[in-house]
Amino acid sequence: MSVLPIYMYGQSVLRRKAKPVRSQDDELTKFVDDMFETVREAGGIGLAANQVGAFQRIIVVDVSEMEETKDQAPIALINPEVLSEEGKCTMEEGCLSIPEVREEVDRPEVIRVRYKDLEFKDRELVASGLVARVMLHEIDHLNGVLFVDYLDPAKKKLLRGRLNKIQRGEVEVSYPIVSDVLPVGRQSVQAK
Ligand code: NI
Repeated sequence: MSVLPIYMYGQSVLRRKAKPVRSQDDELTKFVDDMFETVREAGGIGLAANQVGAFQRIIVVDVSEMEETKDQAPIALINPEVLSEEGKCTMEEGCLSIPEVREEVDRPEVIRVRYKDLEFKDRELVASGLVARVMLHEIDHLNGVLFVDYLDPAKKKLLRGRLNKIQRGEVEVSYPIVSDVLPVGRQSVQAK
C-alpha cells in the first residue's frame, strides 16, 4: 500500500467531475487500498479519488478512529449516487485538501445511497449523522464541489487569504501534498 499525495485547494483536479468506474480489476482494488492508507495517514475520515488526482467516482469513508463511530467499518463506495435525502443538520466540516479551515455547513441528516462495492456488486445503504455527512462531502468532491462553496460570501471573503496560502502550498501538514508551489523535498506527481 502507498500513501498518495493530496491535491490542495486551487488545483484544477478538485474542480473536475470524476467519471464512473466501468469495471473491477486488481488496479482498482489496489487504488482503493491506497486511498484508505492515505486517509488514515493524513488523519482524515473521508477521501474522494480526485483529491489524489484520479478522475474516478470512488470515495472512502473511515470514521472508525472516532469514539462515537468506532464500530463503523471503513467503507469504499464506487459510483455512489444519493437516492434520497431527509432532514437537515448543521455540522462543522474540514477537508484534507483545505487544511486548517473548519466551517459549519448545512446538509441532509439521513441519506440513502446506491453504490458498487469492491466486488462491483450493486449495493444500497442508509446513512445518518457523521457517516452521511462524510459521504455527502466526498460525493460533492466527485462533482467538483468543495465545502467552502456553501459558505456565504462574507465568510468566504474572510477565508480568501487563507485559501490563497493553501493554493501556494503554505500549509503545515504531515502528509504529502500537491500545490502550485511544491514544498521542498516533495515530488511533483502527474494527474492520472
Ligand atoms: Ni474534502
